[in-house]
Amino acid sequence: TTIFLKDYTPFGFIIDGVELTFRLAPKATRVLSRIKFRPNPDATDKRFFLHGESLTLISAAIDGKSADVRDVDGGIEADVPDAPFVWEAEVEINPQDNTALEGLYMSNGMYCTQCEAEGFRKITYYPDRPDVMAAFEVTIEGNEKVLLSNGNPLSQSQGFAKWQDPWPKPAYLFALVAGDLLNHPGTFTTKSGRQVDLNIWVRPGDENKCAFGMQALKDSMKWDEDVYGREYDLDLFNIVAVDDFNMGAMENKGLNVFNSSCVLASPETSTDGNFERIEAIIAHEYFHNWTGNRITCRDWFQLCLKEGLTVYRDQQFTADLRSAPVARISNVLALRGRQFPEDQGPLSHPVRPESFQEINNFYTATVYEKGAEVIGMLKTLVGDAAYSKAVDLYFDRHDGDAATIEDWLQVFEDSTGRDLGQFKRWYSQSGTPRLTVREDYDGDTFTLHLSQSTAPTPGQDEKLPQVIPVAVGLLSPNGDEVMATQILELTEAEQSFRFEGHATRPIPSILRDFSAPVILEQGIDKTRRAFLLAHDTDPFNRWEAGRMLARESLLASITTGAAPDAAYLDGLGAVLRDDTLDAAYRALMLGQPTQSELAGLLHEAGITPDPEAIHTASEDLRNAKAAAFGDLLPVLYQDNQIDGPYSPDADGSGKRSLANAALSLISRTDGGALAAEQYAKADNMTLQLAALSCLLDAGAGKEQLAAFEQQWHDDRLVMDKWFSLQIMQAKPDQVAEVTKRLTQHPDFDMKNPNRFRAVMGALSMHHAGFHHKNGAAYALLAEWLIKLDPVNPQTTARMCSAFQTWKRYDPARQTMMSAELDRIANTKDLSRDTNEMITRIRSA
Ligand code: ARG
Ligand code: ZN
Repeated sequence: TTIFLKDYTPFGFIIDGVELTFRLAPKATRVLSRIKFRPNPDATDKRFFLHGESLTLISAAIDGKSADVRDVDGGIEADVPDAPFVWEAEVEINPQDNTALEGLYMSNGMYCTQCEAEGFRKITYYPDRPDVMAAFEVTIEGNEKVLLSNGNPLSQSQGFAKWQDPWPKPAYLFALVAGDLLNHPGTFTTKSGRQVDLNIWVRPGDENKCAFGMQALKDSMKWDEDVYGREYDLDLFNIVAVDDFNMGAMENKGLNVFNSSCVLASPETSTDGNFERIEAIIAHEYFHNWTGNRITCRDWFQLCLKEGLTVYRDQQFTADLRSAPVARISNVLALRGRQFPEDQGPLSHPVRPESFQEINNFYTATVYEKGAEVIGMLKTLVGDAAYSKAVDLYFDRHDGDAATIEDWLQVFEDSTGRDLGQFKRWYSQSGTPRLTVREDYDGDTFTLHLSQSTAPTPGQDEKLPQVIPVAVGLLSPNGDEVMATQILELTEAEQSFRFEGHATRPIPSILRDFSAPVILEQGIDKTRRAFLLAHDTDPFNRWEAGRMLARESLLASITTGAAPDAAYLDGLGAVLRDDTLDAAYRALMLGQPTQSELAGLLHEAGITPDPEAIHTASEDLRNAKAAAFGDLLPVLYQDNQIDGPYSPDADGSGKRSLANAALSLISRTDGGALAAEQYAKADNMTLQLAALSCLLDAGAGKEQLAAFEQQWHDDRLVMDKWFSLQIMQAKPDQVAEVTKRLTQHPDFDMKNPNRFRAVMGALSMHHAGFHHKNGAAYALLAEWLIKLDPVNPQTTARMCSAFQTWKRYDPARQTMMSAELDRIANTKDLSRDTNEMITRIRSA
């Protein structure tokens, strides 16, 4: 069944309090509920319906008398009085066999929960919808040393704990954790003087991997006070690390649950990238306390209300703590890598979708990352001060509410007087707009002619013009900035903007800091790009100029066999030699478009991408860099070595990323000699893993690969890297074989989402390997998705997106992918999650 935004109606009852008792047992946990309901005067639908899934009902009573409940689709119904009443029920659930990791389940002997979006209905009968909010009191009876739930502890003794969460919340924010856990403690004093106890709870053995996460939490708490004026509202904040988890982490009130890969870190086992990601995710979940928990969503169509805003906030946090340009470039790389393909294929959907079958399929790059871009555009349009004022009003007006996108936009309209009617199209129109630029120069007037258009997307044939903030600066021919960044507001399909008083023709720098999530078509030549690469005063656009040169060089190699562009290599060399630029920025400059990005560009240009040709051209360009910078690379490598202890800060990680980028090119000419040296002396995972990666890429590293396994076989997170890396560095014709061999490794466990993704995710992300013409990778992935679906539908469904680009390719590949999609679709008892994904992908 399909659910529509337009069909929203409020629930017929209001809850005045929830009491839950859990009697924990792995295969037969009993859940007792006592819930006070009263009729909702604002509701027209008075049906008493409670969601419930995979529950065994033991007893149910209304006002103490046994209740007559009717089984209906997705739950139960009962006749209730037209007055306040108490609902009591006892159900039995089976956490041990819950491999879907939704509701209450077990991970390595500990109990934990994941309720967002609709998992609470697997715990007990309840109106499992975000607009039903209530205060919870939770009693846990179990033999585990640590028994946790939301809020503050009321009482605790051996085998027993009682928790109270004073803040009314929707059921998706409920959490329970029980296990023999250890805590890494900390404290934070809020700006108004509240002392908050902080804990990161882990399994024994992981306690030395918590310090970094704890610091990130404190930094987040401070930042949200300083920048958004948001203070924490309980005396306790707990984080728990869990090995088996479908997503990154979850913002349950006062009890965040994290995929252990998103919180546990140590220099020996985690890369700089891991540290950065952990810092951002801890911030993200903490920031949800206000944007998500205190103000939640009316219904799941409003998911971007909390996710887009919270991603935007965590991106601001990272930009403040580390380098803003580097953060912005990384965000754009992620957007282009994940959101653009989604928006340009069969899975395209608006930031606020209007229908779904399974909401878990809409925790997407579009809702999260494009949703964050929309917030950023809003801030750019109204300005920093007006943004702060509007957000303050949002917190004031909607604290305690289950709100909508309309509510969010209304606070901006009310506080700025702006009409956001057209801006709202960013929430309802799917697809990536194309922004085309033409330039004119006449007398002393320079003119930019901007036009926009968006191609049709599934279910949306007609597109209307959107409000696009275009940040523009002007440079003189000698590279001075003659006009600082201005925001042009493009609202029509076509519009011209004039700049007067320019005695010499200026050079425009357009879409600075990537001011809108669009595709910019500028029609400028190499000379202009090289000029911007050398002179642009906007760090994003300077990087972008190099990126575009690399892109054009690669596309020319792919389509005409042209040699790598000398102008690009020259310009890049100058940037790499510029010591005034920080190392992380230069490392980003050294990168080049991914092979799947190139495939997407060719497809858009009406050319069928040939994965082999794309792979060859990409390798050739890397080899050309290795040759062109033969003298420079060892210098970059040497200059960016660090004496002294490892620290995951921006400076250190920037230096390592530049040194490692240099190493990967050096390894193309020295057979891996320098990488072997680095591997031998590496005292942190960033250097160790990069060295191993270079060795494998150079066709060496057999010995080190075995040593690595020997060293780390007890560490699940490090072993995930070991699995992935072998696939990532396999030659295209070996990828399926290597993957298959790794699925036979005793440590391959499809029930662990991290391990499954380490292997199958790497397979689907190896462009040339996944799309190898023998079709072996397509078949292997489909085979494993079919195996995983009955075990874990959510993770299966997400990974189906590997096939979303199937229509890009040649008939032979399309036929093979289509056959695999059919094979999945025709699997008996396919989950609703996977069925929806495959149906949408096949409809392309
Ligand atoms: N709200 C979580 C976050 O973004 C994500 C949880 C999604 N879980 C799911 N099963 N869809 O931080
Ligand atoms: Zn989130």
